Amino acid sequence: MEKKMLFPKTGGLLHGGDYNPEQWLDRPDILEEDVRLMKKAGVNSVSMGIFSWSVYEPAEGDYHFDWLERIMDRLYENGIYTVLATPSGARPAWLDAAYPEAMRVSSRGVRDRHGNRHNHCMTSPVYRRKTEQINRRLAERFGSHPGLILWHISNEYGGECYCPLCAKRFQQYLADKFDHDIEKLNKAWWTVFWSHRYNSFDQIEPPYENGERSVMGLNLEWKRFTTWNTTDFMKAEIAVLKEITPDIPVTTNFMTLYDGLDYRRMAPELDVISWDSYPSFHNDGEPFFETMAENAFHHSVMRSMKKDKPFMLMESAPGLVNWQAFNKLKRPGVHKLACLQAVASGSDTVQYFQWRKSRGSAEQFHGAVVDHRGTEDTRVFREVAQVGEMLQKLRPVAGTTVKARTAILFDWDNRWAIQGMQGLGRETKRYEETCMGIWKEFLKMGVEMDVTAPDQDLSDYDVVIAPMLYMLKSETAANLRAFVEGGGQLLATYLTGYVDQDQLCFLGGFPGDGLAELFGVISEEIDTLYPSDRNHIRFEDGREWEVRDYAEVLQVQDARVLASYTEDFYQGMAAVTCKETGKGKAYYVAARTAPGQMAWLFEQMLKEAGISIRQLPAGVEYHVRSGEEGTYEFYLNHNTHPVKVENVQGPDLESGAVVQGDLELAGLCTAVIRLQGTD
Ligand code: GAL
Repeated sequence: MEKKMLFPKTGGLLHGGDYNPEQWLDRPDILEEDVRLMKKAGVNSVSMGIFSWSVYEPAEGDYHFDWLERIMDRLYENGIYTVLATPSGARPAWLDAAYPEAMRVSSRGVRDRHGNRHNHCMTSPVYRRKTEQINRRLAERFGSHPGLILWHISNEYGGECYCPLCAKRFQQYLADKFDHDIEKLNKAWWTVFWSHRYNSFDQIEPPYENGERSVMGLNLEWKRFTTWNTTDFMKAEIAVLKEITPDIPVTTNFMTLYDGLDYRRMAPELDVISWDSYPSFHNDGEPFFETMAENAFHHSVMRSMKKDKPFMLMESAPGLVNWQAFNKLKRPGVHKLACLQAVASGSDTVQYFQWRKSRGSAEQFHGAVVDHRGTEDTRVFREVAQVGEMLQKLRPVAGTTVKARTAILFDWDNRWAIQGMQGLGRETKRYEETCMGIWKEFLKMGVEMDVTAPDQDLSDYDVVIAPMLYMLKSETAANLRAFVEGGGQLLATYLTGYVDQDQLCFLGGFPGDGLAELFGVISEEIDTLYPSDRNHIRFEDGREWEVRDYAEVLQVQDARVLASYTEDFYQGMAAVTCKETGKGKAYYVAARTAPGQMAWLFEQMLKEAGISIRQLPAGVEYHVRSGEEGTYEFYLNHNTHPVKVENVQGPDLESGAVVQGDLELAGLCTAVIRLQGTD
């Protein structure tokens, strides 16, 4: 088994976070104190320069990097490595004054004024040039600094720009995509509808709020374009760094399932995936475990983008945040629990926003390791220091990865298509929640599940769940068919295979593109239920599932019917079916069911695949990381009460105690067990 440590020279796991020394350059005492406190907290890395452009270059062409060099040197002397950002996420005032085209134009066609951040035009040649210049200077100055371990490209890319430059670029993108043949586009977008035909690519406008929004293909292609253009901007940022520092890896920080960018298209350009995790801990809408399980799902989304290496938790709040509707404190113990969850899920880093609270401006009340009080004598600091200690003990885990034999298919294009389609229930489509809900069922069974794209290689998996796969791209149907024929078990649900990659409906019956044959059913109609409507599905053994929101009426071709509806005009008609093809099985569940109810069917599929279910007390999360040097089991108790987990054998990395049989976990406590025989 291979071990792929992300940052070998750090010797293991990173602990640290965003550090903004440029805010304290007139307080050398504070900068000195930071180093002392970082060592005390077990911090071995910081991310700097994320929003430092106006300090690096206070006036055009007037560069100042000495301050950063002094700080990087001092940190390095003290064993603290630097993740260095490119500063494109926020612009100095002089830049916007000199080059207004760098400022974004909104979907109503109005140009932003200077201010805020993450609001530049991705097309603007001037902005690209200014970014390239500063990135080049940074790489030339710091590329060979022994403390530099990673480039952090910009910050949380996002948003759209509707300026004339972007509109033009969009037209070029479309012309390239449709082979410069406008009739090809007209056909793909079905523009004859409502007389929306285009004569040439230069007639096509982005979907302005007060413009064309009824062409589904246009709306979707605009989203794809925004991802493409952002990725292109990011590639330009990366190119100059790679030219000067080919050996320094690059990342950019993602944000959960951010809707505006298809992260999977950006991932190949990055050496390592990183993301920012800010769950609403202790919210009043769900039990704590559900919040944590949701966070685990997001970890899995990130991990699955590069399965063969660890990912990075780039930001998380050491205390509270300041931007949620209610900024509740993390209860004692929760910090360590959440940090270990990241590592358990495959992260080799625990990084925070932020090291020290700023005195002024928008984030002055955002949590930090060091409070305005400026001392280590705080609850938050102590909890962070505990994490530092824990990460020291978990160093052997660095470089190991999480391996899954099950996967759920989640796809941004499909998500955008479902959002954009006119139909179903406006409030109840809930694609993301549906995927997450199913993923959580596997988490509760202690079974690792990747979150992968429908057109990706599925050969590592035995069980694949494909919820609401409304859009089937040309390669997807063949991919799914090959998976089943090769012995995989596939489960698809209502709303599978209605449209192709351009959102044209399949003719000849849903699911289209040959999937009706794979599942042995045709979905003739889909019923949207009112939120209070209920139906049921009954299996032969009397087991019943409750139906909510959506129920398809099926015509069964040659599938076995496992369960049927109990009510309404489709009472007695098939609701759950299975068809064997090649060496595998294709299940179809025609309705949305109440949370947790499909777990029984998932269990059957897992048993058949020989994947063991880990018996866990409710509220306990379980993961396994493995590599050439060992296999490690992670147990996280999200309950405030103690629990006992059975059948655990091996030394606990944190306490050193050897567990033989029962693992006793106190409330909100964790254990990492090294499996024996894996040395
Ligand atoms: C992130 C951002 C950070 C900081 C943080 C606050 O989204 O990247 O710069 O603003 O949120 O929670």
